Amino acid sequence: MKSQALLLVALGVWLQSLTASRGGVAATAEIPGQRDFGDIESKFALRTPENTVDDTCHLIPGVTESVANCHFNHSSKTFVVIHGWTVTGMYESWVPKLVAALYKREPDSNVIVVDWLMRAQQHYPVSAGYTKLVGNDVARFINWMEEEFNYAVDNVHLLGYSLGAHAAGIAGSLTKNKVNRITGLDPAGPNFEYAEAPSRLSPDDADFVDVLHTFTRGSPGRSIGIQKPVGHVDIYPNGGTFQPGCNVGEAIRVIAEKGLGDVDQLVKCSHERSIHLFIDSLLNEENPSKAYRCNSKEAFEKGLCLSCRKNRCNNMGYEINKVRAKRNSKMYLKTRSQMPYKVFHYQVKIHFSGTEMSEHKNQAFEISLYGTVAESENIAFTLPEVSTNKTYSFLLYTEVDIGELLMLKLKWNSDSYFSWSEWWSSPDFVIQKIRVKAGETQKKVLFCSRNKASYLTKGKEPVVFVKCHDKSVTKKSG
Ligand SMILES: *[C@@H]1O[C@H](CO)[C@@H](O)[C@H](O)[C@H]1NC(C)=O
Ligand SMILES: *[C@@H]1O[C@H](CO)[C@@H](O)[C@H](O)[C@H]1NC(C)=O
Repeated sequence: MKSQALLLVALGVWLQSLTASRGGVAATAEIPGQRDFGDIESKFALRTPENTVDDTCHLIPGVTESVANCHFNHSSKTFVVIHGWTVTGMYESWVPKLVAALYKREPDSNVIVVDWLMRAQQHYPVSAGYTKLVGNDVARFINWMEEEFNYAVDNVHLLGYSLGAHAAGIAGSLTKNKVNRITGLDPAGPNFEYAEAPSRLSPDDADFVDVLHTFTRGSPGRSIGIQKPVGHVDIYPNGGTFQPGCNVGEAIRVIAEKGLGDVDQLVKCSHERSIHLFIDSLLNEENPSKAYRCNSKEAFEKGLCLSCRKNRCNNMGYEINKVRAKRNSKMYLKTRSQMPYKVFHYQVKIHFSGTEMSEHKNQAFEISLYGTVAESENIAFTLPEVSTNKTYSFLLYTEVDIGELLMLKLKWNSDSYFSWSEWWSSPDFVIQKIRVKAGETQKKVLFCSRNKASYLTKGKEPVVFVKCHDKSVTKKSG
């Protein structure tokens, strides 16, 4: 297969030299279009479910037979995977993982890996500039597939990582008809944060553009991943700046376990997380993670954005709903530090009351949630301030699905340092009700203290709350 492809490339080059010497007028007779494609440097390898690792068969623009030779399925959808900048000049280990996950989910599909490794291993700004040429190559390949085989472009889904996301965007802007979808996996920031829409990924580049932002730490223009929204739906897992499990402590643990060979992997940990989140969505299809639209990271942390009304929430990854808002908006969610990444989000609202005014800064609490399926105990959280007769709202999440909420325990931790005044008299608040809203089920539960008034005392036993009786019941009995 490989030698055949090489032969065809050689044939193409030979034909090109031939047409060049003829002045390029009568050139199109034998292999139509080949003349126009000789300058395409990117290679299009059609991988297979059996061999997700190697590029064994190439689709060669202009060479009609190459498509049949690689057993391209004309009635199936096509995924085009575009890698990013590379130091080593080799494919990174995520490529076969993504290819395998795509085939697992869509066994009849065509998964094409674009090889632009030569251009991708230059100095970053040089490689960044090459995204224009790569995008152009990809667009011409797609246009050719459409012209030559009448292959429907709305079967095409481009997936680009880092610089590859911008190459995908440029490709999408140059195809004759719009491709179905582009997924940008942490599109590169440097050289693109302030670029105009035509030279980076933007919502105009496909029928639908979804973007995962996972490593946007630092000032704009300097962060590895682009910070501003560039698609129809832009999701910022864990705020988008940095991902759980990618911290220094974790790095040291991995180095201790696996040696220094994986340092490179750790540097890119948050950047590459975008790919693994997408792979997760392909493999765990019945349980997609939900992301929630929010005006700011801070509002999301307060639990204020767990609504699903009017498309305010969406699935992250492959099963996303194609919502095209007029203005692009940011969506947020929390994740676990490894696959499966899904967590369950809750907004908790507590009213602190009491007859005497009392105010405290930076207080540590713990909540335990008990549900029909499981429980999640001692979830720690800190409130920057608590004072009498004020309501506080915050976000909590559990790594397991606990089912329908039944019971809740709340504990106010004592300070780590010793305080004479608190030893003498521990502060307390009266808490009558706690409101909890579950993002994943959109259900709201009102919890009541078992006693008429419940004292939450600092450093003392947790207070138990149970589901309040139905309003109707209360009315009848009251
Ligand atoms: C091509 O894909 C279609 C589904 O899109 C499938 O039914 C068919 O079996 C595939 N053909 C081959 C040769 O694999
Ligand atoms: C808090 O509100 C309750 C009920 O409105 C009131 O009785 C109490 O005095 C208030 N506490 C303070 C410190 O203002």
